[in-house]
Amino acid sequence: MNNIESIREDFPTLKDWTYLDNAFVGLMPKQVREGYMEWIDEWYNFRITKNTILNCWLEKSTILRNMISNLIGVQSSEIAFTMCTGSGLNIVINGIDWKKGDNVIFTEWEHNPLVTNTTRKNGVESRVLKASGNRFELSNLEKMIDDKTRLVQISQVCYTNGFRFNLKDVAQIVHEHGAKLLVDATQAVGAIQVDYKKDDVDYVSVAPYKYLMGPAGLAFLYVNNQSVNELTPDRVGWKNQLYEGDNPEESITEGKAEKFEYGTINFQGVYALIKSIEYLNKIGIENVENQIINVNKYLYEKLEYLGKKVWTPIENESPIISFIQENPENLAKKLQNMKIKVTGRRAHGGHMRVSVHFYNTIDDIDLLIKNL
Ligand SMILES: Cc1ncc(COP(=O)(O)O)c(C=O)c1O
Repeated sequence: MNNIESIREDFPTLKDWTYLDNAFVGLMPKQVREGYMEWIDEWYNFRITKNTILNCWLEKSTILRNMISNLIGVQSSEIAFTMCTGSGLNIVINGIDWKKGDNVIFTEWEHNPLVTNTTRKNGVESRVLKASGNRFELSNLEKMIDDKTRLVQISQVCYTNGFRFNLKDVAQIVHEHGAKLLVDATQAVGAIQVDYKKDDVDYVSVAPYKYLMGPAGLAFLYVNNQSVNELTPDRVGWKNQLYEGDNPEESITEGKAEKFEYGTINFQGVYALIKSIEYLNKIGIENVENQIINVNKYLYEKLEYLGKKVWTPIENESPIISFIQENPENLAKKLQNMKIKVTGRRAHGGHMRVSVHFYNTIDDIDLLIKNL
């Protein structure tokens, strides 16, 4: 990647650390910090103008809605701001008019699997799609889906070993049965190019504190135009319900995903995320993805050469590579003491998870490999 040295200077952490843990929390460049500060200063130096401060914040959120929709290939009317990935997932699950006997399918590697009070109360059966070795086979999904399936939940990139789904193929199977596809894309957006219209996905929930480099506490949900009227908002407030006098009237934002926003959102996060997407657009998301894939190819080869059992499918182009490891937590701690940050987990038989971003280089990988 061009300018890698000047890019790395935007991330103060990289001066001391070999940071390979973006699937946990991404690093924040100074531009995103400036976005936070801009909001604080605007409020701190509060001047009364014709435009209220709330309207300024709302205008920024409109700018951000457009930026997000361009980044993920959808329309801005299809984006709702939420708090975290889980809040977007819950909006979908609580918004469906479930019937007893319906079922929902999710993979065994979901970070937030959809067994909720709503599904329990409504007698919705949960079906778990099991992994076959290091991947999910769509033939197994075809075997378990039926015409009572209302929703299928998958992670575009699994947080465990980075297994990456072909969303278009999944959507086709799901739609053949009249069900909807809900995607957790928190390990994907910001790292790889996505186009949810092209992939024909119904709902996507994303938190930006990993590959989008911040903020935390603001997230977003994509609800496609065809599905928006099928979901009932599970909460109401001034933002989605007009209240004048004694007669609350519902749904002033009906027909748009914004109808799921019911109150004041995390505007500070809005200012930060605008900066983050500006930053990624300046590099070009295609270049971001290429850098990640190239560095990961190198990592894969080096791990195999070292005799490590790589848990990530080889053909899988994703930001996460995991390998099987005894005492993974100890190794992660040892590396951390050497200022190399990765994740080590006892789960799934014990593994290390390495997750690079555009600012990582071959040198980072060489240093990691040398110390494994
Ligand atoms: C796939 C995936 N989804 C969601 C989350 C976080 O969920 P939330 O944004 O609800 O805190 C993580 C965190 O590691 C994740 O890996």
